[in-house]
Amino acid sequence: MKKLVVTMLLVATAAGTAHAGLKVIGKGDAMRLDPSSFPPVMKENYEVVRVKCIKCHTLERTIVAIQTGVAPISGQPFDRSATKAYGVKMLRKPDSNMSKPEVKASVDLMNFLLAEAER
Ligand code: HEC
Repeated sequence: MKKLVVTMLLVATAAGTAHAGLKVIGKGDAMRLDPSSFPPVMKENYEVVRVKCIKCHTLERTIVAIQTGVAPISGQPFDRSATKAYGVKMLRKPDSNMSKPEVKASVDLMNFLLAEAER
């Protein structure tokens, strides 16, 4: 009986952590990430994204792209070979109010998150 309970707990834990690497909090416009398990440099990068990448749309757009591997507006692939181009596209938007180092931090974070989401 004890063994069964342990097995059930393990199964439940595994199911609950299907997207283990990506801890998403909230839904819709309030969607954000829990950076508590990020390495320090990624925590800093997340701060940039959390502040800078929500000027024109919410974080949901970025998180959904990472979770699904598909950019939600264009339907184009969103993988590690594409993140830089999306970063540059956002940088070039009028009034993006972003610097190149901030975009690099965002791209680094997205690549890290894509790797995490795959785990
Ligand atoms: C100046 C406004 C602005 C800022 C700042 C901005 N975005 Fe965007 N973003 C847009 C607009 C407008 C779109 C709509 C589609 C397009 O033009 O790509 C978009 C679309 C997207 C998409 C979906 C792209 C697609 O092809 O479906 C992602 C992902 C994204 N943004 C992520 C980010 C990230 C990450 C940052 C911060 C580095 C950011 N955005 C900062 C305006 C902005």
